[in-house]
Amino acid sequence: MRRVEIASYGGIEKLQIVERPIPKRRPEQLLIRVRAIGVNPKDVMVRKSRFAFLTGRPPITLGHDIAGEVVEAPRGSIYRSGDAVYGMINDFSGRAYAEYVCLSPGEIAMMPPGLSFEEAAAIPLAAQTALQALRDLGGVGQPDASKRVLIHGASGGVGTFAIQIARALGGHVTASSSAKNRGLCLELGAHSHIDYCEHPPASLRPLTGETFDVFFDVFGNQSLRAVAGALSPNGVYINTIPNGRVIREVLTSVFSAQKAKLVVVRSRSSDLDILSEMVSLGELRSVIAAVLPLSDVHEAHRLIESRRTRGKIILDPSR
Ligand SMILES: NC(=O)c1ccc[n+]([C@@H]2O[C@H](COP(=O)([O-])OP(=O)(O)OC[C@H]3O[C@@H](n4cnc5c(N)ncnc54)[C@H](OP(=O)(O)O)[C@@H]3O)[C@@H](O)[C@H]2O)c1
Repeated sequence: MRRVEIASYGGIEKLQIVERPIPKRRPEQLLIRVRAIGVNPKDVMVRKSRFAFLTGRPPITLGHDIAGEVVEAPRGSIYRSGDAVYGMINDFSGRAYAEYVCLSPGEIAMMPPGLSFEEAAAIPLAAQTALQALRDLGGVGQPDASKRVLIHGASGGVGTFAIQIARALGGHVTASSSAKNRGLCLELGAHSHIDYCEHPPASLRPLTGETFDVFFDVFGNQSLRAVAGALSPNGVYINTIPNGRVIREVLTSVFSAQKAKLVVVRSRSSDLDILSEMVSLGELRSVIAAVLPLSDVHEAHRLIESRRTRGKIILDPSR
């Protein structure tokens, strides 16, 4: 089978398509024929050695998100050969850029009916990040009150799902993106839109006259300190970037009323089932910027590095 490996960390030129045997599954795992692969900024960071202390020495196969068909399942599993499934590998390096992959049952779920493999592969990492940030860290969807939610970086992979999930959980959603993506954000369900080039997030309060209960900084270039004036007195600021500055802010805000939090996504069947339900109810759809052949993995990484993609980039391992 074909898969994408890096023999050493570095630039886009390090991505190589190689022939390898089909992987052997551990007894508790499923062997899955991959029909579509979701590309994420995390894959680029792994390639550049950002998490080398966790990913170890190359060769490494990149990638976390897949949709595909079960080839082999453990005895007694709910999954049968031929079932369409989707999910995310929880290891840091991943191994999804391949024609076949082994995953644990806890990392996957049955694909929602009616969804294409490409649409399904877009969901696991990005939509679970949005769900876990908004629901678990931001408290959006708790029965007490509708939360006012700001999503900054709303037109990318995580942001396009975050708008829809915040709406589905009953939040009042303001999306922040560049002006060209205003229409997309409103189409996905944002109640209002802010162009961050014209109105930086830190200056939002005078603009809207209101504060936000949850500030989901998907792009990750703000801080609790910078946006505190735009947050309600007990508001929560959520970042996606696990760096020293963000972790320090999380720790120092533990005893203050306004909190900084960091989302660290984990794939869980139960969360994928919740997302599948939202898809079935028509509350959630994938926004796909491009579907590229696996042989164009270099272009996929170039697009992700541009930081300008609308929604998700998908790889097709059959091409
Ligand atoms: N901690 C975790 O568990 C976790 C999980 C998932 C993702 N992440 C991180 O979250 C970040 C976002 O992920 P993603 O998949 O959504 O990325 P993405 O799809 O690459 O995001 C692209 C979007 O970023 C927006 N953008 C570019 N420059 C911006 C700026 N200066 N201010 C605000 N928005 C800007 C662009 O919108 P415009 O063109 O409209 O500006 C574009 O639509 C990444 O850094 C990723 O590594 C972390």
